[in-house]
Amino acid sequence: MKAQDSLRRMLASAMVGGVLFACLSAAARAQEAPPPTPEDQKDRLAPYVPTPQNVVEAMLKLANVDKYDRVYDLGSGDGRIVIAAAQKFNAEAVGVELDDDLYKQSSARIAELGLQKRAKILHANMYHVSLRMATVVTLYLLTSVNERLKPILERDLRPGARVVTHDFQIPGWTPEKSEMVFADNGISHTLYLYVRPQ
Ligand SMILES: C[S@@+](CC[C@H](N)C(=O)[O-])C[C@H]1O[C@@H](n2cnc3c(N)ncnc32)[C@H](O)[C@@H]1O
Repeated sequence: MKAQDSLRRMLASAMVGGVLFACLSAAARAQEAPPPTPEDQKDRLAPYVPTPQNVVEAMLKLANVDKYDRVYDLGSGDGRIVIAAAQKFNAEAVGVELDDDLYKQSSARIAELGLQKRAKILHANMYHVSLRMATVVTLYLLTSVNERLKPILERDLRPGARVVTHDFQIPGWTPEKSEMVFADNGISHTLYLYVRPQ
């Protein structure tokens, strides 16, 4: 009878522990980025168009990314910027993607390449993600989308944080540098580097 009681007590405390752990991990995830709701799909205002690979590298070079950086790609598509930042520039990299298939595909690619320690994709609406940990943000989005992101960037980014945009500027911000890069098919791409003021 006593053994049964203590087994029951152990099971109960394991269950409480399990529930507590699940709640804490859900809370940690929710703090970083709540999972998207059907309502969030109306915020998918930029279509999926991947940045050519050599332009990805030019974006990361323009921001001087290195192993001390935490790079966020907002609207990360197939994860190519996140993967390059982690694999070639040794940074920590986080992608944020609303689309279910792109989120799964890019997360699977990160796992396949064994980059999970330095790279991850959040399945979330980028308007609901905290950027407080970012030292570099990359954007290949429309000007109107950048404009809507601007208050979040201004709220969260620390002085000295860099933002690199591909082809579309951030209205009202002055780029510190811009650069034209040609993709392998000869099409030109313009990159803009912004640095948050002190
Ligand atoms: C032009 S693609 C850029 C993909 C990738 N960053 C690159 O440069 O190759 C824009 C991406 O943003 C995603 N997106 C659009 N609105 C979003 C939102 N509100 N939250 C998260 N991702 C979003 C789209 O699904 C798409 O994959």
